[in-house]
Amino acid sequence: MDNDSIKTLYAKHIDIMQARAKEAIEREGIEGLIIHSGQLHYQFLDDNPYPFKVNPHFKSWLPVVDNPNSWLIIDGENKPKLVFYLPVDFWHKVPEVPDAFWVPFFDIHYLKKANKVEQCLPYDLSKYAYLGEHLEVAKALGMHLLNPDRVLHYLHYHRAYKTDYELYCMRKANSIAVKAHKVAKQSFFSGLSEYEINQEYLGVAKQSENDMPYGNIVALNENASILHYMLLNKAPPSTHRSFLIDAGASYHGYAADITRTYSMEDNRFQELIVAVDSLTEYLVSQVTPGKEYLSLHEAACGGIAKILSEFGVVNLLPDDIVEQGIVSTFFPHGIGHMLGLQVHDVAGHVADDTGTAKPAPSAHPFLRCMRTIEARQVFTVEPGIYFIDSLLTELKGSENSKYINWNTVDAFKPFGGIRIEDNVIVHSEHTENMTRELWEESLS
Ligand code: GLY
Ligand code: MN
Ligand code: MN
Repeated sequence: MDNDSIKTLYAKHIDIMQARAKEAIEREGIEGLIIHSGQLHYQFLDDNPYPFKVNPHFKSWLPVVDNPNSWLIIDGENKPKLVFYLPVDFWHKVPEVPDAFWVPFFDIHYLKKANKVEQCLPYDLSKYAYLGEHLEVAKALGMHLLNPDRVLHYLHYHRAYKTDYELYCMRKANSIAVKAHKVAKQSFFSGLSEYEINQEYLGVAKQSENDMPYGNIVALNENASILHYMLLNKAPPSTHRSFLIDAGASYHGYAADITRTYSMEDNRFQELIVAVDSLTEYLVSQVTPGKEYLSLHEAACGGIAKILSEFGVVNLLPDDIVEQGIVSTFFPHGIGHMLGLQVHDVAGHVADDTGTAKPAPSAHPFLRCMRTIEARQVFTVEPGIYFIDSLLTELKGSENSKYINWNTVDAFKPFGGIRIEDNVIVHSEHTENMTRELWEESLS
């Protein structure tokens, strides 16, 4: 997309952001929002900072994710004011004077010294809400409305409806991740270690670990059963049986979150992968406006039960597997979540923009989203089947143990588990599976 087209998309994005800010400001009865990009956090007794992670409210306005001590002053009507940190510093690389498509949309002031920001902020800060992490800094500056609930609920709720600019960014993030996934797959079949596969992934994505929206999960064999496995073994295992990779990419601050699973041999585990893959595709087809996201999770549980029955893991009919509560041993997480500026994006557990709580039901405690599915939302769909020691031990000690074909479980255990995760955009007339469409398109 050329610069003019991005500018057109971005202009509309800013209009929508301004309208949302105006409404939030009016509801709170204030004059504006002061959004802090953040500050570096230093390690204990050390002069090295942790990697900087920008305030998501800041990056919702502009694709600047690497500049602490910057600020936005927003009133919903006037051109947003950006206080852009540009120190004189011979120790570190200082940011360039920005010259990107987003620049004309801000009234930019350059800040040389972080502690002199007061000079760039409005005079009476008592009428502004501070949105950011550093409450002591905000208080010292004279702000007392710190991350007010009403403002956050409103902005978080509406953030679920992506603008065209955001959808463009999310497709870009997916396309970067898809290219890197393809190379990771080849690396597995070439016998590399988890660490080496991850290096290949990052190399193709041209992103560092800090650029990634979350820590990559690169798991060989049994490690695939650990839901958030982050270890990255440096040595390859003696045999490569299976490979689960859950890795994303970022683009202008927006996240991709994709998982694939592979089997080295064409065996029963490969058949199980194919079954989970088909379930992902089926569930994506069910992501349609007006439906409850919870119903998608329930459909996933039904689909997993069917697979467990068909593969002889559980000697019951699918409905009985669900009824007996056996599914959660093999599929212990939610079917997915909203995706956007954060990988697990906010406002999944509210019913409206005032923040009325809509928690996950006790039967599905790990479901991250209870929203009604609507156009412009972006979700992950990520069913899985895992052979997790601790959960299997629990099942073995329960009444339900008698329904389990433990020999089949033992045969699958060395492969760890399977998750197939796609990222989808809901449109009013169709659902766009970004991940699969870009997978088909990309040549490498
Ligand atoms: N990568 C974390 C998740 O899939 O939710
Ligand atoms: Mn994931
Ligand atoms: Mn996910």
